[in-house]
Amino acid sequence: MSICFTLNGESRSLPAHTPPAMTLLDWLRAAGLTGTKEGCAEGDCGACTVVIETPDGARAPVNACLMTLGQAHGLALRSVEGLAAPDGAPHPVQAAMLAAEATQCGFCTPGIVMSLYAHARMGGDAHEALAGNLCRCTGYRPILDAVAALAVAEGAVPVCPASDITALGPPEHRFFLPRSLDDTLSLRRDHPAAWVLAGGTDLGLRFSEHRENPAAIICLRDVAELRGISAGPEGLSVGAAEPYAALLDQIADDPDFAAFAGLLRRLGSRQIRALGTLGGNLGTASPIGDALPPLLALGARLNLAGPNGARDLAVEDFLLGYRRNALAAGEIIARVFIPRPAPGAIFAAEKLSRRHDQDISAVGLSVLLERDGEVITRARIAHGGCGPMAARAPEAEALLQGAPFTEAQARAAGEALSRAITPMDDLRGTAEYRRVAARNLLLRLYWRAARPDAAAEIMALPTPHAPRFIAP
Ligand SMILES: Cc1cc2nc3c(=O)[nH]c(=O)nc-3n(C[C@H](O)[C@H](O)[C@H](O)COP(=O)(O)OP(=O)(O)OC[C@H]3O[C@@H](n4cnc5c(N)ncnc54)[C@H](O)[C@@H]3O)c2cc1C
Ligand code: FES
Ligand code: FES
Repeated sequence: MSICFTLNGESRSLPAHTPPAMTLLDWLRAAGLTGTKEGCAEGDCGACTVVIETPDGARAPVNACLMTLGQAHGLALRSVEGLAAPDGAPHPVQAAMLAAEATQCGFCTPGIVMSLYAHARMGGDAHEALAGNLCRCTGYRPILDAVAALAVAEGAVPVCPASDITALGPPEHRFFLPRSLDDTLSLRRDHPAAWVLAGGTDLGLRFSEHRENPAAIICLRDVAELRGISAGPEGLSVGAAEPYAALLDQIADDPDFAAFAGLLRRLGSRQIRALGTLGGNLGTASPIGDALPPLLALGARLNLAGPNGARDLAVEDFLLGYRRNALAAGEIIARVFIPRPAPGAIFAAEKLSRRHDQDISAVGLSVLLERDGEVITRARIAHGGCGPMAARAPEAEALLQGAPFTEAQARAAGEALSRAITPMDDLRGTAEYRRVAARNLLLRLYWRAARPDAAAEIMALPTPHAPRFIAP
């Protein structure tokens, strides 16, 4: 069956033999739309940024190098070729970039223009909008000047008609887009070797870099039971296939999850967060998955669905070892339940990485402390990047639980944490660095929580370029 999407306002129906695991970037460039560039082919540089548009006028930037054609099915997409007005006049974003002399070699420019085109609707922080775009020769100051000069408001764009098609591509390379959990589980039964793909920001590298082309892919994007987020007094129920961007929208103003939101804002870039999911972070069971320490500290539980029915599992019982999880054959993660911290509890989620944005963690540390007066009644501490898997730190927890939250106690717990972890040396940091960093993160938490008057932090200098987009 044909892959269909709308590109720059025109419906496209691809020939039936088109491989659905082909990246959108490869397809665009082969189709002659070479404005979209390939820099890194792994989601890091943003040169390949295109924008997903929805009928309500919302826009989300994505990396075309990571997105497969199968994932593009049913979407309305815009590439840089689709920005100019019918008379050829440049889009206001393009005009602003030109006027601010925000381009030199120009290789990064189409991707930056597309990120800013999405930003015109998404609003928010301009640095955040550009965190997924590298420019090596212009420097960001003129680009931020262009952002500051912009005021953009446009109408919505039509989407290609929804279809019932659930199987795309030729028989030897099927791409399934089931809409229900039952159909998903049946597909898993019938195609046990199929790859399960949510946002593809991890698996996508196997298409773009390693050029793998599996016989079958089951994409979770349209599975209703795996989407949606509900928030209640007990906590959040998050569909495992719901992109981070939606989760961030949900918790951005929720004080109980402020620390989690702060961490998510540093997970990848807007492009990565538009597709990447909690299910994918858990599915990889990577020791440096950013969402795993906060889920462990908060006591999150997973709802797994499989051929023998559903079961619930705590995240700590789900993670078994280096990139190993407890999924049984044919099972998938359906939902993630994240309990709300108790009133008055301290919840912190820290990430150390070489760059502030768009970088993988060297060390992650999340801490939940419930208190009765001065005494800590419950402590949950979880680390990432400090061993073969993200895990809790029972030795450090025991030192805090039942004790007053003092600097001496925080130091003792930090030392216990540092002794208990088994980090390795790699390009993100030595084992010694990680031991010291983990200890110090616990102390940082103490200073921030208990002595906010004494704690000081130097962050990026504030930009004078407040965004002036009008988001209709
Ligand atoms: C440029 C770039 C930057 C990144 N930055 C970060 C970062 O800062 N922090 C971080 O933690 N990660 C980062 N990542 C990694 C990635 O974005 C995350 O791990 C993300 O959560 C993966 O989610 P996904 O939906 O894209 O997973 P996919 O790629 O679709 O899948 C990943 C794995 O999980 C499995 N899976 C997915 N959903 C389910 C499910 N519901 N049930 C069972 N198995 C499932 C898949 O089969 C696959 O094995 C980055 C990646 C890139 C390319
Ligand atoms: S080519 Fe670099 S992010 Fe896609
Ligand atoms: S203008 Fe050359 S990389 Fe940005």
